[in-house]
Amino acid sequence: MRKKITLIGAGQIGGTLAHLIALKQLGDVVMFDVVAGIAKGKALDIAQSSPVNEFNINLIGTDKYEDTKDSDVIIITAGVPRKPGMTRDDLLGVNLKIIKQVADGISKTSPNAFVICITNPLDVIVMALQKYSGLPKNKVVGMAGILDSSRFIYFLSQELNVPVQKIKSFVLGGHGDSMVAMLDFTEIEGKKINQLVSEGKLKKEKLNAIIERTKKGGAEIVKFLEKGSAFYAPAASGVEMAECYLKDLKKQLPCAAYLNGQYNTENLYAGVPVIIGAGGVEKVVELNLSEQEKKDFENSIKAVQELFEAAKKIDPSLK
Ligand code: NAI
Ligand code: 2OP
Repeated sequence: MRKKITLIGAGQIGGTLAHLIALKQLGDVVMFDVVAGIAKGKALDIAQSSPVNEFNINLIGTDKYEDTKDSDVIIITAGVPRKPGMTRDDLLGVNLKIIKQVADGISKTSPNAFVICITNPLDVIVMALQKYSGLPKNKVVGMAGILDSSRFIYFLSQELNVPVQKIKSFVLGGHGDSMVAMLDFTEIEGKKINQLVSEGKLKKEKLNAIIERTKKGGAEIVKFLEKGSAFYAPAASGVEMAECYLKDLKKQLPCAAYLNGQYNTENLYAGVPVIIGAGGVEKVVELNLSEQEKKDFENSIKAVQELFEAAKKIDPSLK
């Protein structure tokens, strides 16, 4: 039987997710949106491309949670994206309300689903989603680290003229300006990036500029688009997580996962390497961080904690 994948939010990312899932034939797709017409129109449009692209899955659009019943995977993008000049954190109040409605809808109808949250501000929204829904912590996870790492790798590949496939790296911590590019875990054609810097093959200032550009990677696109934020790379990253779960690939991916003591962090979601397989988040991988990386990671955790405190002020039920 084909898997059932529900996309809550059929906007820019939701539509791209549906298209990628169809092309990869990962499962049947239910597109849910409060604006039913958007979900129905996009589902029908993508379905009409099936003879051309030769995929054989069903796609429907809806505004009723019954239609999402017993989903295997749910990917949430419901919410409001950034406008130029806004930070991800400015979205907190409005997206918290939306995520509460979504949590209520999905926890009743799909209690066994693997739930991937993309809505911003990511770490706090995924934490709120888990609390509101009561779904198991290993089945509720946030997408950001794959996107941030992918941006970093792309910028490095452009600068060094090395194919992206030959670069390995992680960007961890919160999905905000405090995110941390893990330089000790960054390798270009098998060589540590710090070695390239000491050999003079990459200027330290250039590397710092790339790290800064990665942190502001979302804002750079918001500024170009003027309306809305990035959606192709975010959707590709969300699909990577869904595929890993559905096919039990057990890949190590940077995702916003629940930390219960790992990385000296208690009771918080933040970006760390995790193993995703049929059991959901099967493991949080604890890297041996350098002193600098530890400091930067702690700083990023502090930023997420502060934003979660702000969320609790907006909704004291979050505790
Ligand atoms: P969009 O505005 O194109 O789509 C959002 C959709 O959510 C709209 O169609 C809207 O009607 C729907 N919606 C609103 N309230 C809803 C509700 N209660 N139930 C169901 N649907 C509802 O936005 P886009 O570009 O798809 O972005 C979605 C979210 O993803 C934003 O919060 C954005 O900031 C975030 N994002 C996160 C990234 C990450 O790395 N985690 C990367 C890029 C964007
Ligand atoms: C991004 O990084 C806005 O979080 C979104 O593109």
